[in-house]
Amino acid sequence: MKKKKIFVVAGARPNFMKIAPIVRAMDASPAFETVIVHTGQHYDHNMSGSFFAELGIRRPDHNLEVGSGTHAFQTASVMMKFEEICLTDRPDYVMVVGDVNSTIAAGLVAKKLGASLIHVEAGLRSGDRLMPEEINRLATDAITDIFFTTEKGATANLVSTGCDPGRVHFVGNVMIDNLFYQLGRLEASAVSGEVATLKQSIRGNYICLTMHRPSNVDNPEVLEAMLAALGDLAGEVPVIFPCHPRSRKNITRFGLDGYLSEPPINGGTVKEGLLCMPPLGYNDFLYLWKDAALVITDSGGLQEETTALEIPCITIRENTERPVTVEVGSNLIVGSDGERLKAESLKALSGRWKPCTVPELWDGHAGERITSVLEGACGI
Ligand code: UD1
Repeated sequence: MKKKKIFVVAGARPNFMKIAPIVRAMDASPAFETVIVHTGQHYDHNMSGSFFAELGIRRPDHNLEVGSGTHAFQTASVMMKFEEICLTDRPDYVMVVGDVNSTIAAGLVAKKLGASLIHVEAGLRSGDRLMPEEINRLATDAITDIFFTTEKGATANLVSTGCDPGRVHFVGNVMIDNLFYQLGRLEASAVSGEVATLKQSIRGNYICLTMHRPSNVDNPEVLEAMLAALGDLAGEVPVIFPCHPRSRKNITRFGLDGYLSEPPINGGTVKEGLLCMPPLGYNDFLYLWKDAALVITDSGGLQEETTALEIPCITIRENTERPVTVEVGSNLIVGSDGERLKAESLKALSGRWKPCTVPELWDGHAGERITSVLEGACGI
C-alpha cells in the first residue's frame, strides 16, 4: 500500500511540544510518510531551535523562515511559502496543532489545495474574540476535516456547532504525552549550569511565572499593575520569571525594569525577588517549575501541564479555553486583579489549595491514539 504523505506543521514555541509525540508515533507507523514543516514564526534559539534538539524531534524537512510581523503579514507569509511547498510536494493530509497564526495559515492553504485538514487540540474556546488565538481556533475548526480533542467540553463545542460527531475524536492531550516523556528523561545533567545553580540557591518555596499575552503585556498600566502585584509576592518568596521577548521589550519600553531583579550568577542564598531571565528551553524550565509551590501564568499549555502534575496554578487571564484544568485540575483563574492574585498565591504557598485530579485520557498516549485513528481513516 502506498504511504499517505502527511505534513505536520509547527511554527511557534507551544507547537513544538505538541508535534513531538505525534511525529514519534507516526514515524513508527507503516501507513505514513511524515514531513515536518517549521514555519519559522518563532526563530530565536530559545524560542525554537533548542526545542527541536531537546524534545527528540528530528530536524524539520522544511523551514519557511517567516519570522515576526503583524498578524496579517505573518499569516500571509506562512500562506505564500507553505503553498509553494504544497504545490511541489502534494500532501494527502496536513496536520496543524493549537491556535497560533501558523495554524490557521497552513490550514487555509491545505484546504484550498484539496488536502484533508487535521486539527489537533480542536474545539477549545475561550469565548473571548479579542484574543487572536480565539479567531485562529474558530477559523481553523470551520475548515477542519478530522478533529482531535483534549477534553470532552471541546468535543461538545464542535458538535454543538454542527460538526459531524464521527469526525471528532477525543484522544487526550499530546502536550501531556510530551511532559511525561520528558520527565522520564529529565536528569540534572540535562539542564544548564545557570538553572541548576539558581535552583540550588533557593531554599524553601518559590513561584514560577510566565506572562506574555498581549492582554497583560501590551498596555503599560496593566503591565505595571501586574508587575507591582508580582513584586509584592516576590518580597515573600523568589519568583522565577523566564521572560518572553514580547514582554521583555515592553517592560523596557514602558520604563518598568525597576520591578525586576537579576538571578544570582554564582549561587549564594536567594530569598526573594522577581528574578527575570531570558526564555528557557523546555527541560530547563521543567526542572524549575515541577518543584515550584505555585505557577502563575497566562500560557495555555502550562495550565494543562500543572494540572497533569497537580501543582497549584493561577492563571492571570479573564477566561480559559481549557476549562477542564479549572473544573477538575489545579488551575484557578484570577484575571488581572492584583489583590486576588496575591491572596490566592499566599494560600497556595501555605499549602492550602483545592482538591484536584488529572483529566481523563491525559495519560501519555494521545499521540498513539491519533495515529491509530488516522490509520483507520487510511483503511489500515
Ligand atoms: C505567539 C502565539 C501565542 C503563543 C506564543 C508563545 C499567535 C497569534 N500567538 O505569540 O498564541 O502563546 O506565540 O510564545 O500566533 N520574538 C522574538 N523571537 C522569536 C519570536 C518572537 O524576539 O523567536 C518577538 C518579536 O518581537 C515578535 C514578538 O516576540 O514581534 C511576538 O512574537 P509573535 O510570534 O508575533 O507572537 P507571540 O507573542 O510569541
